[in-house]
Amino acid sequence: MLRVGLVGCGFMGRMHSNVYSLLDGAQLVAVADHKPARAEKFGIDFSANAYLSLEAMFAAEELDAVDICLPTHLHKEATILAAQAGKHIFCEKPMALAVADADAMIEAVDQAGVQLMIGHCIRFWPEYALLKEITDDGRLGKLLSINLLRYGEFPHWSSDNWLADEKLAGGGVLDMHIHDTDFIHYLLGDPDSINSWGTVDERGPGHVFTTMTYPGCVAHLEGGWNLPSHTPFKMAFRAIFERGAAIMDAGPLTIYEPGKEPVVPEFAKMEAQGGGNISDLGGYYHELRYFVDRVNAGQPLEIVTPLTSRTSLETTLEEIRQLKSRA
Ligand SMILES: NC(=O)c1ccc[n+]([C@@H]2O[C@H](COP(=O)([O-])OP(=O)(O)OC[C@H]3O[C@@H](n4cnc5c(N)ncnc54)[C@H](O)[C@@H]3O)[C@@H](O)[C@H]2O)c1
Repeated sequence: MLRVGLVGCGFMGRMHSNVYSLLDGAQLVAVADHKPARAEKFGIDFSANAYLSLEAMFAAEELDAVDICLPTHLHKEATILAAQAGKHIFCEKPMALAVADADAMIEAVDQAGVQLMIGHCIRFWPEYALLKEITDDGRLGKLLSINLLRYGEFPHWSSDNWLADEKLAGGGVLDMHIHDTDFIHYLLGDPDSINSWGTVDERGPGHVFTTMTYPGCVAHLEGGWNLPSHTPFKMAFRAIFERGAAIMDAGPLTIYEPGKEPVVPEFAKMEAQGGGNISDLGGYYHELRYFVDRVNAGQPLEIVTPLTSRTSLETTLEEIRQLKSRA
């Protein structure tokens, strides 16, 4: 049984805590937040001991792993602290704000001999995981083109509105669009070319349009959070293969093949209790289960590694560099 301590009792902290209550291989034994009321409420809600800092939690608890759900600018410091304390680490995306910070995190976990997984949950989101399977096994032929879309209103719920500060969050492109940048790397690897345009506002790079080219395939990615309040959150894709298409857009994921009836695959849904813009625990459940199972078994992480997460950060920062230079 993996004894987990979680730091950051906010939106994602609640999502992850809900998942731990569903996992057999892990127990959430401690939570920490610098806001006493939040730590206390999580402690009650999830029957865990509550602390006001990671340091206090480490001093009092025997933990195997730490789950970092802190604002992005704190990921590096918390990861290094946890690695030096000998804990395995699950840390939310984006890995960090700068590639140099990601490198420092990788160095710390390598030196400590602990595992680090960044929460690139889209690799585990059932519809996207199926798209990866279809692309890899070639059942619809080669992938010719793909659109990936992710947008919504600005996430107004972050503590002290940290997401509105580019120095802490990196703007909507780094915070939200990185999901699709990470997924396209998972699906197709490093692109031959990247071209980004987009918009910048007082919260940083808010909306991006990127074209990436691969041998025989073109990808278009769009993402942003600079839409008016009440705009529904949307994530969608349209993948066109030689002999069919996989489309998740206005309706559920549907697979189209010439001469056949469209197929709508079924996926089990798990309801979240945390609110926000995500209506089910699916990808979060699968990513944390993977982390817990692999760490418990002493096996390496393969679907998401520190290096793949570093690459996704590096590419997203390149998209931001280009869009800023052209805005
Ligand atoms: N994977 C996803 O789909 C997804 C979705 C949303 C957010 N995120 C990521 O999760 C991370 C957290 O985002 P969030 O939306 O939960 O933010 P949040 O503001 O809701 O929660 C952050 C929590 O950290 C606490 N905190 C801040 N500074 C602290 C400190 N020094 N010590 C202890 N506690 C401190 C805050 O009080 C708050 O409770 C971010 O990196 C964000 O990008 C990922």
